[in-house]
Amino acid sequence: MLFLTVASCKWPKGIRPDRLTLLAVGVYSARNATAVAGRYIEARLGKPSLVRETSRFTVAEAIKHPVKTAKRLKSKPQDALEGVVLSPSLEERVRDIAIATRNTRQNNGLYRNILMYGPPGTGKTLFAKKLAVHSGMDYAIMTGGDVAPMGRDGVTAMHKVFDWAGTSRRGLLLFVDEADAFLRKRSTEKISEDLRSTLNAFLYRTGEQSSKFMLVLASNQPEQFDWAINDRIDEIVNFALPGPDERERLVRLYFDKYVLQPATGGRQRMKLAQFDYGQKCSDIAKRTEGMSGREISKLGVAWQAAAYSSEDGVLTEAMIDARVGDAVKQHLQKMDWLHGDEEPQAKAFTLPPAGATAGGGKMGFNLPLGEASEAQDVIAPFLEVKEEQEGGSVPPPSDINAQPADGQSAPPVGKDCDEAAKVEAKKEDKTGSPPPKDGTPV
Ligand SMILES: Nc1ncnc2c1ncn2[C@@H]1O[C@H](COP(=O)(O)OP(=O)(O)OP(=O)(O)O)[C@@H](O)[C@H]1O
Ligand SMILES: [Mg+2]
Repeated sequence: MLFLTVASCKWPKGIRPDRLTLLAVGVYSARNATAVAGRYIEARLGKPSLVRETSRFTVAEAIKHPVKTAKRLKSKPQDALEGVVLSPSLEERVRDIAIATRNTRQNNGLYRNILMYGPPGTGKTLFAKKLAVHSGMDYAIMTGGDVAPMGRDGVTAMHKVFDWAGTSRRGLLLFVDEADAFLRKRSTEKISEDLRSTLNAFLYRTGEQSSKFMLVLASNQPEQFDWAINDRIDEIVNFALPGPDERERLVRLYFDKYVLQPATGGRQRMKLAQFDYGQKCSDIAKRTEGMSGREISKLGVAWQAAAYSSEDGVLTEAMIDARVGDAVKQHLQKMDWLHGDEEPQAKAFTLPPAGATAGGGKMGFNLPLGEASEAQDVIAPFLEVKEEQEGGSVPPPSDINAQPADGQSAPPVGKDCDEAAKVEAKKEDKTGSPPPKDGTPV
């Protein structure tokens, strides 16, 4: 159209139509090329839709927030565990991970993939972010729950995340929160075809260890993971509920952050009554048994809110106690709901001892991992023998924690141990190698 118009016009002296045609073509191609380049840059550098939060910034952001950007560029790596309260053994473990990650980045080595599991609010996300900052890497957080609603776009979105991760100069810590929401077993009927394809794309992109990105998965229910995901994990870290000592440290941390600092700092809008703060924190730690780090941090916010909502702005000991009482009641209510939700078998499981190094499973209220698998090892053959004898399925024992009254090991449920061992041997013969204990398809 444009060319016809150009050709059929009468042109003033000095302007040649062929030159004008060339000019039009030039403008047209330049516009297209810019759009293509824009789309390419957007695809490679723009934040992928699956990424919720990232420390990486785009050029546009750098122009918008120059001070923030400069600060971030100048910031020195901080302690990976600053403000994270963990039991001494876990602290030692995660500190080792932090040091190894930092050295990996500096030496351009291959990153190790980590799984962090445990009850909600125990510091998994908090630590993952600190780990990224400490190691000098960029971090990106994606949530497992965002993947399923993407439907058939999930595969493209997933590839985009990894393409984008590959362009990071500092290395990217890709944190997948609530990972069980989309990394669940492919064999289950509950997962849709689209989700299965997205999971396959994820598996394809994570098949080899990478020097570009490190995978950190967090989950409350890691037992739901696809077996191929488990195979990609190099390090498993259990974040358990805080024990008495950790609770006391947490109470002190959040009392200091939300009460003492605002009461003693610059503008002093909050006033604090006189009482023994140290003793108070110890008492609160005792009353908050079973609470997570998040629940304790919320308690700190509740104290602050109480002071701000009081007429004179003074936070008294009685007000603190009242808030602790409320929090304890609410915690018990939540536990009641939790146990109400669980299946009868899970109900019999016990709360892990505070500060226990194992746990996990549904909301972390489960047998310690080691014990659970041992118990399954012992029980499984007997159940099969009984099943063969009765020709039907046997309901699981109601309480696998139950110990015989005399404190000795549980007697066999089936005929005897030999028979059980034979059945197990026969099964192993048929399959070649034993299947995973959690029943995951191989
Ligand atoms: N170990 C901890 N030390 C200090 N603060 C903690 C700790 N655990 C939790 N918190 C507080 O609770 C908040 C929430 O913790 P975080 O998001 O890390 O929990 P999470 O383990 O990722 O939980 P979820 O499984 O629900 O995602 C933190 O921002 C922090 O204020
Ligand atoms: Mg989290």
